[in-house]
Amino acid sequence: MSSIINPTQAIANISVISGVKEHKDGRLYNASQEEYALPADQEEIRRLNSQHRAIVMSFNGHIPEDIKEDLSKKEKPRILDVGCGTGIWAIEVGEQLPNSEVVGIDLVSIHSEHHPLNVKFQRMDILEDFPKDWQGTFDLIHIRYLVVGVPNFDLLLPKIGKLLRPNGYLVSIEPDLVFKAEGYDETTSVTIKFATLVNQALNKLGRPTLPSKVVREVVQSSELFDLVRTELSEIPLSPWSDDERMKEIGNEHRKTTIYHGSAFKRLVLNAGYVSEEEYDLVCKGVEEEVSDAKMKLIFPVWMNHQASRALLISIPFCHSIRNSGVKEHTDGRGYNETTGEYILPADREEAARSDFQHKAIVMLFQGLVPEHIQKSLSEKEKPRILDVGRGTGCWSLDMASQYPEAEVIGRWENSFDLIYIRYLFMGVRDFTSLLERLTKLLKPDGHLICMEPTAYWAPVEEKDKELASMTIRYSDIFTEAMKLAGIDNDPPKVMRQYLDSNKDYKEVKNEYQGMPLSPCSDDERLKQCGETHLSNSIQMIQVFRRLILESKVINEEEYDQLSAQVEVEFREAKGELVLPIWRISAQKV
Ligand SMILES: C[S@@+](CC[C@H](N)C(=O)[O-])C[C@H]1O[C@@H](n2cnc3c(N)ncnc32)[C@H](O)[C@@H]1O
Repeated sequence: MSSIINPTQAIANISVISGVKEHKDGRLYNASQEEYALPADQEEIRRLNSQHRAIVMSFNGHIPEDIKEDLSKKEKPRILDVGCGTGIWAIEVGEQLPNSEVVGIDLVSIHSEHHPLNVKFQRMDILEDFPKDWQGTFDLIHIRYLVVGVPNFDLLLPKIGKLLRPNGYLVSIEPDLVFKAEGYDETTSVTIKFATLVNQALNKLGRPTLPSKVVREVVQSSELFDLVRTELSEIPLSPWSDDERMKEIGNEHRKTTIYHGSAFKRLVLNAGYVSEEEYDLVCKGVEEEVSDAKMKLIFPVWMNHQASRALLISIPFCHSIRNSGVKEHTDGRGYNETTGEYILPADREEAARSDFQHKAIVMLFQGLVPEHIQKSLSEKEKPRILDVGRGTGCWSLDMASQYPEAEVIGRWENSFDLIYIRYLFMGVRDFTSLLERLTKLLKPDGHLICMEPTAYWAPVEEKDKELASMTIRYSDIFTEAMKLAGIDNDPPKVMRQYLDSNKDYKEVKNEYQGMPLSPCSDDERLKQCGETHLSNSIQMIQVFRRLILESKVINEEEYDQLSAQVEVEFREAKGELVLPIWRISAQKV
């Protein structure tokens, strides 16, 4: 039906078209989902690719720049494109982030056979459950123009949220299915009439007119996501603008607009509001209207992007880090806004640090939980696990993927098989009362694991004190600041005393490990732990800055000078210093 479209402009080499069947209108459609009534053939590929180019141009890129930058710093970010269509977005993002691993999923395979090796395509119905081993594994999930295929974003988005890693991103682009014509009587525009017909057909299927608003609302009200940002792009439907860039976008979208006619035909006719004859007449009118490019036709398209913590378990009685509920401090970093007592940051940088810390701890203790507890959990049918003050949720996510049947969430009395607390010493002033409350949540025979460090860094041998003298000085200052802030600097001792003397518990076990702060050790495993912990050690100096400066043990200038020297000692692996950590586990009687 198009006169201005050059078919050779479409992506060449589409060798993969599968999962489709021919309809009586002569076009191919997906073979499995009757309700999804847009085609899946060469012409649809041209429409989607042209639409893609217009969207990318109008949003100035495939993903917001800060998200791209963050992903490019990761070693091997995993990216998922849900309902990827021709895969053009997945392929181009795979090219831009060559270290990434991109997976595109769709009901059909209509992607180019020429794609980079780091991009893979899989046929999958996104209305079904996602593979279990995908939970908590993606750094970025992209969903775009899924309104026709998704009856209920309320159901889809939580499932998608669970696929994200802590701090993973969701980027969603959906249009408002309401075209506008600036400065014109909209009733005279046949393109707007066309949009109305599509809208009516979609409403009949229960789809929203403003899908981006629905996405935004679901995401904003979900505990799975925070930091929602929204951008609006008004995409010109034809090249009517005087502005060069807008004109180029309009030129690209004009092709899409014309293709819309045939693409939406089955959907609109199925709704039964117009005859085929009337519909074809409207589409002919659209083609003329956008070819003429006089009317200022606009298609509002919204991008919602969110950082997700992927798994939120909120236990109100301990001061866990939650990204929602964060406010900016004068030092430019985000801190929790509820308690003045917990003064470590709660921002993206802190989350990245915590994730490294988590990796190093798991490496050092060779596993997420002690072996005997691992065994006991794997014997249970559906263990319930609580991670208190979960931070970024990295331990919970790893546990959830190790025990897919487990439920790692909740807060009911007498109902958990395992409760895990780790590194809460900066936020919890009274460990005894915390343990008393947690004991109530455990089932009989349930396990408790407490993993806390002391608030000093210890030299392994006498000579290390000299080799890392600045770090030792820093550690002394840190301990002093903790004392002044009323923070117990030996929480493991308090916990041990509580568990040893409490008749509710049996089998109290104490395991000690010294976490190397830099890769000094001759022992290969400890050296590796030190390597993994190194960036965390360096960042700790910044993280404790506010606490130490507020204690006034040292002034800002001295602090910055000392921290620079400590950083050098860490980087040059001078002197073997460790952070003493105890893992204390016990079983409820
Ligand atoms: C309008 S296209 C958008 C494609 C791509 N996201 C883009 O922006 O270029 C919608 C895509 O969603 C896919 N889709 C619809 N329902 C689906 C389902 N239940 N499972 C998987 N994919 C689905 C369709 O096959 C189609 O490729």
